[in-house]
Amino acid sequence: LSMVVLISGGGSNLRSLLEACQDAEYPARVVAIGADRDADGLDLGEEFGIPTFTVPFSSHTSREAWGEELLAQIRQWTPELVVLSGFMRLLPPRVVAALSPRLLNTHPAYLPEFPGAHGVRDALAAGVTETGASLIVVDTGVDDGPIIAQERVPVLPGDTEASLHERIKTVERRLLVQAVLDIANGHVDLEEHSQI
Ligand code: GRF
Repeated sequence: LSMVVLISGGGSNLRSLLEACQDAEYPARVVAIGADRDADGLDLGEEFGIPTFTVPFSSHTSREAWGEELLAQIRQWTPELVVLSGFMRLLPPRVVAALSPRLLNTHPAYLPEFPGAHGVRDALAAGVTETGASLIVVDTGVDDGPIIAQERVPVLPGDTEASLHERIKTVERRLLVQAVLDIANGHVDLEEHSQI
């Protein structure tokens, strides 16, 4: 299963996926890493010998033009799956329609709880004793696509946003590696989850 993974940040979840792919038995490969900015996680391309590309959001006149360029870059790799892993931009509807349902996103909350760009902070602020990690098919809404996998994560007394987020990420990484395996071996059929 060939994947393009899109990031905006450090790419720690991507690192976990890349490490899983190093196992010859694991039936998936990351063929390219893309970003909307000069993300630290792009260094993983160098480390793991994987091509990278950036489509800076700032260098485009409109979200749609940026989306078209991003889509063109992704399509060059003809991936069977696109994974958003810490990608902090909303994809324009035309991009989602072109890629979904073979388009996954990881979210650091137990969707539909705490959607949006600050799921960890929002859970902490809400004072809940548990939150979670979710893996969804991206469709035209914000974090409201079909849930592929999710798991509860406890909020511990004294948690900061960073400590809680790190605990969530350890679950996200496991869910992501397992979901890609399930998709690669046909146990999960993304076309069944298509809502577009
Ligand atoms: C992850 O928690 C992801 O769900 C969220 O941003 C974080 C990315 O972390 N959208 P990293 O860049 O993989 O370390």
